[in-house]
Amino acid sequence: MQRALSFDHLPPLALPMRFLMSVPLFAALAAGLLAWHGEAALVTRWSPLTLALTHLLTLGCLSMAMIGALLQILPVMAGIAVPGGSRTANTMHGALCAGTLLLAAAFLVGHALLFAGALACLGVAFFLLLGCCTIGLWQQFPGGADASLAAIRLALGALVVTVVLGLWMGAALAWPRALPPPLSLPLLADLHAAWGLLGWVALLIVGVAFQVVPMFLVTEPYPRWISGGYTTMLFLLLVASSLSAGIAGPFRHAALLLLGAGYVAFAWVTLRLLARRKRPRADAATLFWRTAMLALPAALARGLLPADPALDVACGVLLVVGFALSTINGMTYKIVPFLSWYHLRHAHGMGLSGGAPASVPPVHRMLPDGAARGQYLLHAAALLALVAACAWPAQLARPAGALLCVSCLAWFANLAAALRAGRVPPAARGAVLDTAGAGR
Ligand code: HEM
Repeated sequence: MQRALSFDHLPPLALPMRFLMSVPLFAALAAGLLAWHGEAALVTRWSPLTLALTHLLTLGCLSMAMIGALLQILPVMAGIAVPGGSRTANTMHGALCAGTLLLAAAFLVGHALLFAGALACLGVAFFLLLGCCTIGLWQQFPGGADASLAAIRLALGALVVTVVLGLWMGAALAWPRALPPPLSLPLLADLHAAWGLLGWVALLIVGVAFQVVPMFLVTEPYPRWISGGYTTMLFLLLVASSLSAGIAGPFRHAALLLLGAGYVAFAWVTLRLLARRKRPRADAATLFWRTAMLALPAALARGLLPADPALDVACGVLLVVGFALSTINGMTYKIVPFLSWYHLRHAHGMGLSGGAPASVPPVHRMLPDGAARGQYLLHAAALLALVAACAWPAQLARPAGALLCVSCLAWFANLAAALRAGRVPPAARGAVLDTAGAGR
């Protein structure tokens, strides 16, 4: 089920790193805001502060990481290069950063001009991403499309729905008289949140998991029954639940129930693969994935419970921080040291295998597991505190925010250390280039 990867098409290191290194910084900013404002951020999902924090996380962290991972994975997995290369990626990154900050500020201040700026920047960022991926996926689509690429296509389809609904609601909030929303705003927001979290984010994580869990976490491949047309079925259930929203209650509930069951099955299979992995000791990335796969069913269980604003917020915390951020945190601990190591070897004129000079450490020494495990403990403590803070916001919201902020700064420091370990010292650059030239 795993596609053979081609590292000849690897983009320059700075291209994905620009996105991946921004992720912990946006997470730290969101956590810092929570520590500052405290209780007000966790009382209801509809407060402007909660919406600002939600988008610092969903756009600044989740979408940022997803885009960085896509720009890295598509060339390697399918030979699909971003049209325009680094220049397009830089524009996309700048527009996403600016759009995220402006949207958070617009929610907090409620000014139409801020909404307008945010919508323009986010429109540019997602238009570029979707344009590049569509051109790449449809023009250069290789034969024998596998489960991962199929899931990536569906996730991008879900992103289109999320972004269109988001831009529409943003415009309706900025200019309520000129552009009243055609459906009630809470209904649109529910659809937008479902397509964003259960479509764009979760489908992409499932698709990428098929490829990276066996490769980086050293497990057996996913069984065929889940990596076949499974993501298409999840996508169709999302379509069915959305089309029936507000008109066919029982049908919508049945579709949502099946969708939830589908994701629970994915989490269960992943936990089983991790339990049977070939390496007995769980490293930091495995611990992050286990946490994510426990948080996903816990979040989805919310659908079985009665209406309650605190449960809604807890469900969001479990999905965004518990499931998505944990997965991303764990994956960056595999991807960043690996890329840093690979590019260092490449600078010395070497490929993936074979001996290396002493200046190229083995990949597991690019980021010591002790540092990553320490940050995992901070993350797990912050997640527990955040979930508890949904029940006792006055007492726990500030400490939970502070803990998450420290965890994210430690995450950034760890990734920066892995990048530093892969840097060729300026004094040695000439010698390395000579060796590389001789090696080729
Ligand atoms: C162009 C990008 C986006 C824009 C302009 C946007 C805009 C909005 C707006 C205006 C709302 C609030 C609606 C209201 O007040 O009732 C909202 C809610 C929400 N958005 Fe977005 N959004 C964008 C992208 C995303 C993405 C990519 C995700 C997820 C990955 C996401 C997740 C959510 C969630 C979960 C809510 C509900 C918030 C809550 O329940 O607290 N958004 N969005």
